[in-house]
Amino acid sequence: MFTRRRAPLREKITLITGANGEVGHGLIEHLAATRSAADVVVLDLRGLDEAMRGKVNRVIVGDILDNELINLLLNEYEIETIIHLAALLSTHSEFNPETAHRVNVQGTLNLLKLAIEQGKSRGSPVKFIFPSSIAVYGLPDAETKARAGAVKEQEYLYPITMYGCNKLYCEHLGRYYAQYYQQLSAMPSMGVDFRCVRFPGLISANTMPTGGTSDYAPEMLHAAVQGKHYACFVSEEAQIPFMVMPDAIKSLLLLERAPQNMLNHYIYNVSSFSLTAGEIAERVRASFAGADITFDPDPARAAIVESWPRDIDDAAARAEWGWQPEYDADRSFEEYLIPTVRAIYAK
Ligand SMILES: NC(=O)c1ccc[n+]([C@@H]2O[C@H](COP(=O)([O-])OP(=O)(O)OC[C@H]3O[C@@H](n4cnc5c(N)ncnc54)[C@H](O)[C@@H]3O)[C@@H](O)[C@H]2O)c1
Repeated sequence: MFTRRRAPLREKITLITGANGEVGHGLIEHLAATRSAADVVVLDLRGLDEAMRGKVNRVIVGDILDNELINLLLNEYEIETIIHLAALLSTHSEFNPETAHRVNVQGTLNLLKLAIEQGKSRGSPVKFIFPSSIAVYGLPDAETKARAGAVKEQEYLYPITMYGCNKLYCEHLGRYYAQYYQQLSAMPSMGVDFRCVRFPGLISANTMPTGGTSDYAPEMLHAAVQGKHYACFVSEEAQIPFMVMPDAIKSLLLLERAPQNMLNHYIYNVSSFSLTAGEIAERVRASFAGADITFDPDPARAAIVESWPRDIDDAAARAEWGWQPEYDADRSFEEYLIPTVRAIYAK
């Protein structure tokens, strides 16, 4: 007599790619502190920093462009959510545009395909959380930028960087895989549950960023606390929106947990405050009396910042999934950035 052999249950996990970056660190720390990150499997070219490894289920050192690895993940786990952070950021992408295209676009496509296949095997769509960026915008000149004020999701989508082009196209890919994938087949796919936030420049007190074009704000702060001179690569008047890391993490998780029937869009702006580089320098100087900040704009990098909006309109996120930043500019500097960097560098 033969008994039917039951397939072993696959472990249910959340997959976080690019987890060893700034946002990944913030996210894992937050998950470990609030619920647990025991169901989190991370995938990053650089693995995960030693101090954080115990906080997650498994660390995979690997490349999102490695199809064999993607297949392995497909077979080994039941992936409920993918938080896809792995990317090459704006400045690095400008130096290596074709590599950026492979990582940012082909890498995202690989993960969307993984989500589709997982959805088929588990019978319900996989949540796919994707951080996009204000780099998708491209305002043609300073006058238009001043006039535009807080721009909406669908306005001024003419990016001037490879990174911005990559992010904008991946937003479209996400929408396509959510709604139209295999639309002509007799059995259309159930798609993926694609959810995207467009971040402004992010500032973390805990990590020093590399590779972004909005990095001047955190670089100013980290230089001042160490008593180092900082020459800012944009002018004092340059203005874009910013957000501190705790709010960035809050937005990702709030969107991830939002009931699907509340969501009428795939892509949402999220914002908290907008300051000029000069205003950021003033705030840093007010806290670190000897802060030595000068302005020495690099025309090419400054032009990229100039093409990004002064502010973004996040009304849809507020209305549909209750987005509300915890930190305005005052709170960001007084309660998060200044005390945290002081404590870190005092050690
Ligand atoms: N930091 C910001 O200001 C900002 C603003 C807007 C959007 N974002 C987006 O948020 C996400 C996370 O950003 P971050 O600041 O943490 O970036 P980061 O550069 O700090 O981290 C990116 C991580 O991705 C990994 N990675 C790169 N290529 C990979 C590959 N081929 N395979 C596997 N891993 C790879 C890197 O090793 C790194 O740990 C990115 O998608 C970024 O575009 C960031």
